[in-house]
Amino acid sequence: MASLSLTQIRTKSSFPELAVTRRVRTGLTLPGRVGMRVVASESSKAAAEPDLSVTVNGLHMPNPFVIGSGPPGTNFTVMKRAFDEGWGAVIAKTVSLDAAKVINVTPRYARLRAGANGSAKGQIIGWENIELISDRPLETMLKEFEQLKKEYPDRILIASIMEEYDKAAWEELIDRVEQTGIDAIEVNFSCPHGMPERRMGAAVGQDCALLEEVCGWVNAKATVPVWAKMTPNITDITQPARVSLRSGCEGVSAINTIMSVMGIDLKTLRPEPCVEGYSTPGGYSSKAVHPIALGKVMSIAKMMKSEFNDKDHSLSGIGGVETGSDAAEFILLGADTVQVCTGVMMHGYGLVKKLCDELKDFMKMHNFSSIEDFRGASLEYFTTHTDLVRRQQEAIRQRKAVKKGLESDKDWTGDGFVKETESMVSN
Ligand SMILES: Cc1cc2nc3c(=O)[nH]c(=O)nc-3n(C[C@H](O)[C@H](O)[C@H](O)COP(=O)(O)O)c2cc1C
Repeated sequence: MASLSLTQIRTKSSFPELAVTRRVRTGLTLPGRVGMRVVASESSKAAAEPDLSVTVNGLHMPNPFVIGSGPPGTNFTVMKRAFDEGWGAVIAKTVSLDAAKVINVTPRYARLRAGANGSAKGQIIGWENIELISDRPLETMLKEFEQLKKEYPDRILIASIMEEYDKAAWEELIDRVEQTGIDAIEVNFSCPHGMPERRMGAAVGQDCALLEEVCGWVNAKATVPVWAKMTPNITDITQPARVSLRSGCEGVSAINTIMSVMGIDLKTLRPEPCVEGYSTPGGYSSKAVHPIALGKVMSIAKMMKSEFNDKDHSLSGIGGVETGSDAAEFILLGADTVQVCTGVMMHGYGLVKKLCDELKDFMKMHNFSSIEDFRGASLEYFTTHTDLVRRQQEAIRQRKAVKKGLESDKDWTGDGFVKETESMVSN
């Protein structure tokens, strides 16, 4: 499944008004954009050791752990490090055409610690950043992508991109990143700070009409798989996810950071992170966002399951992953891959070994031999609150009936005569 030799043409029958001329793939080595099954390795069943490998939109990865866009994918050295340590794939820091417009400030991070009264020694559970997308020249980043693909032709490198509301600019950016040989594109429709002021990032992800239009441009141009990265800063995350998939994206990634204010310094009365006495709302990540991310991924996965062919579209879970168990939770909700950003900033690139070991331990405990064996297995246990009430009332009624017992042997059902007889005694 890793490469496609056939020419593929897709039409957009499900969303005709958005139909774009489907790209026609003729390359023999690049994975096809469409119709690729999202499957775990087929050799997995035979292996005694659980098989962590996955094939997502035709992209083969040794494990589902992906470096999330951010500081851990900021330059050649760190991305090379990620491949060497064994990450399944790397998503580079988001690039745009003109890095000169991207001006960062310091400090740009603030942390929340769990401990007595936010003790400075407590464990970091929350991380706020007001960092923008890459401020390194695009030319430099592109050369580094090219070099990485030369040195690691079999490893998956994904470019994260973002542009202003300008079709030509998007087309140029897609063209230039694709020329480096990257395997896929993740579109950052979700950065919550700085970029929305230029009608970029979350400004697009929060506006479904705009999103539909930009996704149309992107998917008409791109010849590699496209993942749309969702912002959680929206009432119903399934809406932009649905629009992205209907507009031709092969996958959805969720979540980017949550809009936040980390805190106020009670001596100076100034918010943090404090830049020349002032601050701006930032993006929240790390352990504290994990339950929120699980909730968003669950909603998207349910929507994808009911409205899209699971085999053609992928879902990448992101948010607060630091252990194999955190990753297992995303996969149980339907994620094909799991991204890690802040976890790598805190624990280093070697974290992937621990993540793989812990995920394998979980799989062994349940006798799962491949990721596909348990992907989405917990989704069916979500229902409505009304249904929970109904289920609980029914369970109570049954427990009461057992306790109360049968009135006489005329009520015997034939199931468990001894139990039914005893229940008559206790009446
Ligand atoms: C310092 C920092 C910079 C980030 N920069 C980007 C970025 O350039 N593009 C992007 O799509 N996401 C960016 N993110 C968001 C992460 O990729 C990720 O979606 C989010 O932090 C939640 O995952 P985590 O808890 O594993 O960090 C950044 C996150 C952090 C903490």
